[in-house]
Amino acid sequence: MTPRTIGSVLMNGVITDPADAAVSVFDIGFQRGYGCFEAMRSYGGDIFRLDDHLDRLQRSADHLRIELPTRSVLRSWCTDTATGGDGVIRVYVTGGLDASVPGTGNVTVVYLESVPVLPQFVRLDLLDAPWHADGHVSELTGAKTLSYGPNLAATIEARSKGFDDAALLGSGSVVLEGTTFSLGWVTDGVLFTPGLESQILESITRRATLEAADRIGVETSVGRFRSEALLGSDEVLVMSTVREIMPVIAVADVSFEPGVVTERLSHAFGELVHEEIS
Ligand SMILES: Cc1ncc(COP(=O)(O)O)c(C=O)c1O
Repeated sequence: MTPRTIGSVLMNGVITDPADAAVSVFDIGFQRGYGCFEAMRSYGGDIFRLDDHLDRLQRSADHLRIELPTRSVLRSWCTDTATGGDGVIRVYVTGGLDASVPGTGNVTVVYLESVPVLPQFVRLDLLDAPWHADGHVSELTGAKTLSYGPNLAATIEARSKGFDDAALLGSGSVVLEGTTFSLGWVTDGVLFTPGLESQILESITRRATLEAADRIGVETSVGRFRSEALLGSDEVLVMSTVREIMPVIAVADVSFEPGVVTERLSHAFGELVHEEIS
């Protein structure tokens, strides 16, 4: 099955039919989740903040000690793929065939998939995430690695309870991020979002949202906040490349209304995207 793929898959730059696009079972990307990835948005063939994504991919690969194809090669693979139109560009870099020399015989996969049909509003479970770096720094902290098992398990757990996804908590109930998205909330007109010192992913959408907030005069506060702050807020939102900015209507058993600040931020984010890609 090749869900939502638009056009061909580039395997180390080779145009490949999606049905034939395969990675070796001996690749440590498959065997140990050793590798890294990116997801970027193509808007009608233009990629939003391509270089920010490629910078993050480079940082991930550096953590993993995998040598990437050159920046110009990666750029052209991504821009060629984006000509398929609107969608999500996926880039996967596997660890390769020799665990002692990461990158040996590895594969870089680039393809476009259609934007998933998402619910208009998000309902989030609140889950403890003892696997999260939560401010601690280790070898792979900050890398967007292929090892997303715990995050996916949290999504599955949340869905089994009737939610769409999960917001993750660190020690002392500190709010971290979602399983595949950043979190924000609005209290008395101020946008709050967890800070990078909690070793959350350096989200490109979160950064753009903070810029958008600045443009429209919404005050922002970035730091370490406990779940009470989130649960007691006026509006909650999620931010990611795939979801852009979406209102949250429930966190655990607390309900929220989609709010006017989220709406304004979403609009300002859309304008920012429009300006940059046109
Ligand atoms: C854990 C996590 N946090 C946040 C994000 C949002 O990052 P971005 O805005 O760069 O898509 C993602 C996206 O994959 C993620 O996996």
